Amino acid sequence: MSYVVSISGSPAAQSRSTHLLSLAESALRSRGIAVRRIDARALPPAALMHADFAHPSIREALELIEHAQAVVISTPLYKASYSGLVKTLLDLLPQTGLAGKIVLPIATGGSLAHLLALDYALKPVLSSLGARHHLPNVFASDADLPRSANGYAASPETVQRVSASADALAHALDEQAQLRELRTKAASVAAASAPRETAATLAALIRCAS
Ligand SMILES: Cc1cc2nc3c(=O)[nH]c(=O)nc-3n(C[C@H](O)[C@H](O)[C@H](O)COP(=O)(O)O)c2cc1C
Repeated sequence: MSYVVSISGSPAAQSRSTHLLSLAESALRSRGIAVRRIDARALPPAALMHADFAHPSIREALELIEHAQAVVISTPLYKASYSGLVKTLLDLLPQTGLAGKIVLPIATGGSLAHLLALDYALKPVLSSLGARHHLPNVFASDADLPRSANGYAASPETVQRVSASADALAHALDEQAQLRELRTKAASVAAASAPRETAATLAALIRCAS
């Protein structure tokens, strides 16, 4: 089954970046997209820090990421970068753990001062894990997410940014599914009708194009 995995990367129980992630999850679900959440702060700390791949919670989280079509990753900005919690989780992924996946970074920060941290700190890490399809970041400052009686109340502009981003992700998922279908069809046509050598060449071309 096709789904998006969402990763909450804040160590805080009451978290603005997780609230922003929840808005994105709702926006995706309202577009008919299944979303499965990983709360990094809920993972067993010792297993996370010691890279205990045998721990059932770690295994389950890594398998969720492995089989997802897209990854929405939310983080607070800490010390002009993304959170250490996000890094400990990403460090457990295999070197091509994000290959073929669409990625959407989401962040909150005290101000706009370190907004570019997503581009200079997080994006290179996601790229090194094989992600090639990066959607534009969604960022909100703390002023965009003031406290409310039930947690946080996102400004209308923030809600609008999240909604536009959910549209972009839905569109990218559609394109990804169409490409996958075309690739499968092309490969089976090539295998059925072409001489063996031509079929191998076509298969290589299809791999290159994807
Ligand atoms: C330890 C720490 C370091 C922070 N460093 C930065 C920073 O460098 N730049 C920034 O814009 N905000 C910084 N902030 C503010 C947080 O990014 C901001 O409040 C964010 O919304 C917190 O998200 P959370 O509630 O999901 O943890 C820092 C906050 C903490 C607690």
